[in-house]
Amino acid sequence: MGKLDGRIAIVTGTSRGVGVGIAHALLAEGATVVGCSRGELAALPGTDDNPDWAGRSAQWVCDQGDVEAIDAFVQRVVDTYGRIDILVNNAGGTVPTPHVEDVPELVQKIQGAPRAADDFERTALFHAFAVQMNLISPMWFAIRVARQMKTQEGTGSIVNISSGAGHPAGAPTLVSYGAAKSGLNHMTRSLAQEWGPQIRVNCVALGPTITDNFRSFVLPADDPTGREYFDLVPMKRGGEPAEVGATVVFLCGGDADFINGTTIECDGGMLPGVLYDAGLKTITDLL
Ligand SMILES: NC(=O)c1ccc[n+]([C@@H]2O[C@H](COP(=O)([O-])OP(=O)(O)OC[C@H]3O[C@@H](n4cnc5c(N)ncnc54)[C@H](OP(=O)(O)O)[C@@H]3O)[C@@H](O)[C@H]2O)c1
Repeated sequence: MGKLDGRIAIVTGTSRGVGVGIAHALLAEGATVVGCSRGELAALPGTDDNPDWAGRSAQWVCDQGDVEAIDAFVQRVVDTYGRIDILVNNAGGTVPTPHVEDVPELVQKIQGAPRAADDFERTALFHAFAVQMNLISPMWFAIRVARQMKTQEGTGSIVNISSGAGHPAGAPTLVSYGAAKSGLNHMTRSLAQEWGPQIRVNCVALGPTITDNFRSFVLPADDPTGREYFDLVPMKRGGEPAEVGATVVFLCGGDADFINGTTIECDGGMLPGVLYDAGLKTITDLL
């Protein structure tokens, strides 16, 4: 018996990273999980050698920057599985940039925003992309899924994945991303008020969380375990995607039925700002 037996869940951004940890935690508790990303994959990563998980999961293409793609994806989930009980808005992220007013081409290229030769236009597009991916697209997904949940019997749960960069203390080097994640925390509270009691909406704000990309692009080569890097984090380490997954299961699994509109910080007790300089080092070394 799992805490989420029979539940139908969407998790965005499950081709790699934190989204995979969330999807696995939901599958382990009995949910059926439909993940998405922009590229085509044969299956949700990590389900190939587990026939039970493979039978309760799917990985479909959906670019969350395209509102029509979100509409079609959510409808496909409903047509296939009959309902949606859980949405985890995980897809997002960005790249730190040394100067908010002048984003270098390399930074824009790594982030994946539309390109522009003009410095000002490139900078503007970089920031717009960060806000689109970390605030507007999760809002589009939440609204589309809520429209479905409101037609169903029972209650639904939406969890937004935010970041410590959204802390009110500010986020130099991550200005547009921090503003978008702060907006996500605020949106969580507003949607919880609009949609209760049928739908609960909560948020998990992550500190540094160890993924393949994090190992390759953030942890210094001479400190691969992050022993020095995480010295200012009270827990002296980064989080694991499985720990984010466990927090999401808590929020969706019946133990948190009176928790609504809140943002849980899953960051080892990290103070705002302590890693901004360290987080920028990989980028400045590349520039
Ligand atoms: N890791 C950390 O240290 C950390 C810290 C704070 C907050 N977070 C938050 O945690 C979440 C996950 O981060 P992560 O570190 O796992 O990032 P990641 O490794 O870059 O993975 C991002 C996932 O989102 C998907 N994705 C990207 N753009 C998409 C789009 N337009 N439509 C649909 N899917 C898209 C990616 O797949 P494709 O590229 O194949 O489309 C990938 O599966 C993000 O919201 C991030 O802001 C992470």
